[in-house]
Amino acid sequence: MDFKDKIDINNLPQHIAVIMDGNGRWAKKKGNQRIFGHKNGVKAVRDTVEGAAELGVKYLTLYAFSTENWNRPKQEVDALMSLLIATINSETDTLIKNNVRLLTIGDIDGLPKNVSKNLNELIDQTAKNTGLSLVLALNYSARWEIVNAVKEIIAENERTPINVENIDNEFFEKYLNTKNIPDPDLLIRTSGEFRISNFLIWQIAYSELYFTEVLWPDFRRKDLYEAIMDYQQRERRFGMISEQIKNNN
Ligand code: FPP
Repeated sequence: MDFKDKIDINNLPQHIAVIMDGNGRWAKKKGNQRIFGHKNGVKAVRDTVEGAAELGVKYLTLYAFSTENWNRPKQEVDALMSLLIATINSETDTLIKNNVRLLTIGDIDGLPKNVSKNLNELIDQTAKNTGLSLVLALNYSARWEIVNAVKEIIAENERTPINVENIDNEFFEKYLNTKNIPDPDLLIRTSGEFRISNFLIWQIAYSELYFTEVLWPDFRRKDLYEAIMDYQQRERRFGMISEQIKNNN
C-alpha cells in the first residue's frame, strides 16, 4: 500500500506551511555550489505542490526568502532572485492548468522590480483558480509582519480613532499579511533543524510541528504524506482536555 492510501482524506490539514531548509548542505555534500542546492530545491517545490494539490490540501505556504536572507553573499541572493523569476515563468502554465491560485506574503515591493512584476502578473492570472492556494513567503519575516501590522493600526487610528475595547485577536489578524488565510494546521521543517526562524510566529500558535532530517532538495510528496500521517496521529487540544475533544467528535 502506498503512503498516500494511508492518509485519512477527511482529516487533512487544510493549511500546511513549510520551512524549506538544507539546500546549501545538500549541494555541499555533492561537492557543488550552494545555488545547485537551490536549483534542485525547485524540484522539491514542484513535487510538494503537486502532491498537496492532488490530495486536496487548501493552502500550502512555502518560506522561500526571508528578510534576513538579504544578508547572504550577493552572488547567492542574485542567483536566488533569478531562480525565482525562471521558476515563475516556467511554472506559469502548470499552475494555471492545475487550478492553483498563487498568493504571497512578505514585503513584495522590496523585491527587485522584475521579480515583483512577474509575481504580480502570475497572482492576477491565477486569482480565480479554486484549487490549492500556494502562498510564497518572500522577503518575509514574522517580526516584520507584526511590526507592520502595528504601524497600520496606528495609521488607521489617526484617520478614524479605534476603540481599544475592540482590539482582540480577530481585529489584529486583519492587519497581518495572512488575513483571509487560515492558520497552518501543520508546520514542516526540513534538514534536521529545530527552529522557527522568524516564520509565521503569530499564526502557528496552535500548529502541529513536524521536523524531518530530509534535506529540502530530496523532499518529495512521499515525505509530505509521511508528515500528514504523523499529523493525523496527533490529538489537537487547543488548551482543552482530551475528554472534551473526544466528546466534541
Ligand atoms: C534554505 O536552505 C532555502 C532557501 C533560503 C531558499 C529556498 C528556495 C528554493 C527552494 C528555490 C526557489 C523557491 C521557489 C518557491 C521557486 P539553505 O540555503 O538555508 O540551506 P543550508 O541551511 O543547508 O545552508
